[in-house]
Amino acid sequence: MHRYICLLTLDNVHFSYEDKTILDGVSFSVKKGEIIALIGISGSGKTTLFRLINGFLSPQKGTIQCACEHVTCMRQEDFLLPWRTVLENLLLFAELGKKSTVTAALIQQAYYLLQRVGLAGYAEAFPQELSGGMKQRVSLARALLQGHPLLLLDEPFASLDVIFREQLYKLLREIRDQYQKTIVMVTHDFRDAISLADRLLVLSHGTIVSSYQLSPEMRHDYERCEALIQEVRSSLLSTLSQEASLPSPQIA
Ligand SMILES: Nc1ncnc2c1ncn2[C@@H]1O[C@H](COP(=O)(O)OP(=O)(O)OP(=O)(O)O)[C@@H](O)[C@H]1O
Ligand SMILES: [Mg+2]
Repeated sequence: MHRYICLLTLDNVHFSYEDKTILDGVSFSVKKGEIIALIGISGSGKTTLFRLINGFLSPQKGTIQCACEHVTCMRQEDFLLPWRTVLENLLLFAELGKKSTVTAALIQQAYYLLQRVGLAGYAEAFPQELSGGMKQRVSLARALLQGHPLLLLDEPFASLDVIFREQLYKLLREIRDQYQKTIVMVTHDFRDAISLADRLLVLSHGTIVSSYQLSPEMRHDYERCEALIQEVRSSLLSTLSQEASLPSPQIA
C-alpha cells in the first residue's frame, strides 16, 4: 500500500486574541512535497495560522504537529535590513548561529537564486534602491536559500506582475521537485492558486470550509478553472455578507 508522509498536521486548532476568536477549529494535513494554496479574505486569520505553525503563537486548543525541525517563513512584510546589501541580507541567517555557516557554496546558491528571481546584478544593491516587487523577490530568494523542508510563504507574489509570477511558479515547482520541499502559501489571487498549487484550502469563519484538489489537466481546462473560481469566490463572499450582517457599532 502506498503511504504518504504527512509533514504538517493541524487538528482542531483554536486561537483567539483576547476575546476575539480568529481560528475556530482548523484541521488539515499537508503531505511531504505538496504545494498548498491558502485563500481567505483579509483578516480571516491566514497570517495568524502561519504564526501558529512556526511556533510564534500557541493554540489555545488543538494540536499542530510538524515532522520537520525547521520551518522557513516568508512574511508579508519584507523585513530586509536597510544597512545590508541584498547578498548580505540573504546570508544573514547563516551568520547568526554560534558559528557562521556562510560557505562558498551558499554564496554561489545565493547568486543563483537572485538570478532565478530576476535580480542578477543586484547582489550589491541596498534594499532602499529596490522597488516593492524587487524587495519581495529578495525575500523569496532568502526564504529559498534557507533550505528548510517546509516553506510558509505569506503572499509571495502580491506586488508582482504576471511575467514574474510565471517565472516564480516555475522556480517553486522546480525546487519542490528537486528537493522535495513542502510549500504552504497564502494568496489572494486565484491565478496563483490554480497555476501553482496541488491543493487549494479556503479559510472562512475561522475554519477550513473547502479543499480542492488541483491537477495539471485542470490548469489547462478554462471552464473548470472558471467554475472553481466562481465557487471559491461565492464562499468568500458569503463570509463577507455574514460579517456585514453583524450589528454595526453604535456611534455616539
Ligand atoms: N497582535 C494582534 N493582536 C490582536 N489582534 C490581532 C493581532 N494580529 C492580528 N489580529 C487580528 O486577527 C485577525 C486575523 O489577522 P491576520 O493577520 O491573521 O489576517 P490575514 O488573514 O492574514 O489578513 P490579510 O489577508 O489582510 O493579511 C484580524 O482581525 C486582526 O485584526
Ligand atoms: Mg496576512
